[in-house]
Amino acid sequence: MSEKIVFTRGVPPPEAFPTGDLGECFDAAVREDANVVLQYGQQQGYPPLRRALAAEYGVEESEVMVGNGSLQLQDLLSAHLITPSGAVFTEQPSYDRAIATFRRRGARTVGIPLEEDGISVEKLEEALEKEVPAFLYLVPDFQNPAGATLSLEKRRRVVELSEEHGFWVVEDIPYRKLRYAGEDLPLLRSFGGSRVVTISSFSKLLSPGIRVGFALGPAGLISALTRLGEYTYLSPVLPTQAAVSEYIERGWLEPNIERLKELYSPRLSTMAEAVRRELPDAQAFIPDGGFFVSVMLPEGANTENLVGRAKDVDLVLTPGSAFFADPLDDEPAAGDRFVRLPFCAVTPEQIDEGVKRLAGLL
Ligand SMILES: Cc1ncc(COP(=O)(O)O)c(C=O)c1O
Repeated sequence: MSEKIVFTRGVPPPEAFPTGDLGECFDAAVREDANVVLQYGQQQGYPPLRRALAAEYGVEESEVMVGNGSLQLQDLLSAHLITPSGAVFTEQPSYDRAIATFRRRGARTVGIPLEEDGISVEKLEEALEKEVPAFLYLVPDFQNPAGATLSLEKRRRVVELSEEHGFWVVEDIPYRKLRYAGEDLPLLRSFGGSRVVTISSFSKLLSPGIRVGFALGPAGLISALTRLGEYTYLSPVLPTQAAVSEYIERGWLEPNIERLKELYSPRLSTMAEAVRRELPDAQAFIPDGGFFVSVMLPEGANTENLVGRAKDVDLVLTPGSAFFADPLDDEPAAGDRFVRLPFCAVTPEQIDEGVKRLAGLL
């Protein structure tokens, strides 16, 4: 049997975890602020961490909520904003768990085609003629699953449209700080709209297991989410939030991000080269950061039971259709031809071998 190669979940590899340093911060955080950290309360999150995030993003503390990972915040937001028979718009393809969350909360989830420079604004405008969603969910930087980054012009236009039509824009940015080349583009919130919510977490910068995520939005929305959080889990997990706060205060976050970039950047280059070499006819999305390269296989490719046949050659793939919401038009979604290729938790050798195996199946 050959070595199993896993191209499924976008998780950090074990060598990415700053175990010793984070352990030290846990210890300090719990000992030094035990009365707060080990107690119920602080439903909006650990105050020093909220203060640090408010300063970083230039918002008031009342506009920051820190919760148990960003996915739970997405769920609270969905519970709060989704109306019966209402819609949520996403990019098409989009993050599979987000699509599942919106559907579970009762939203018809409609996918607006994604282009190399982000969501198709033309298609978004077309969709808005028909209905206005509760919110538009975007991963503007190094998108999961495709890797695309939303252009400057489109960022501006999306915020304008949210004001014109009255829908929220949720920008989910867990990969934003993992940029290996090029320059940052402004956050959507920086265009000044009153209906932008920013969600992110420390899952990809420190550890997903600590479950520290945050949401930034208008104070009224943040208090509503905080109340919902309180009814759901009573009080967020404060020791991990305090450890992250300590880690940031010690000035360790930036150097850790630099270390991660050095670890991941060669993996991205290897994946990009392997895709260009082995899958020359596929439309490839090669990002400047994040965790994912992706390909849209050519129409003639043999995609019949691709995930099953990949398993037979010890290659684990996520079914492309998991990333597809309801199509905007009647046109069937191209999920069968879409393959997400996470590159961070695999070695360069596994990347080369895995892409070669994939090409052999087509
Ligand atoms: C776009 C996106 N949002 C949210 C999450 C979930 O992150 P968290 O661990 O903060 O819940 C992920 C995880 O892969 C993701 O890719």
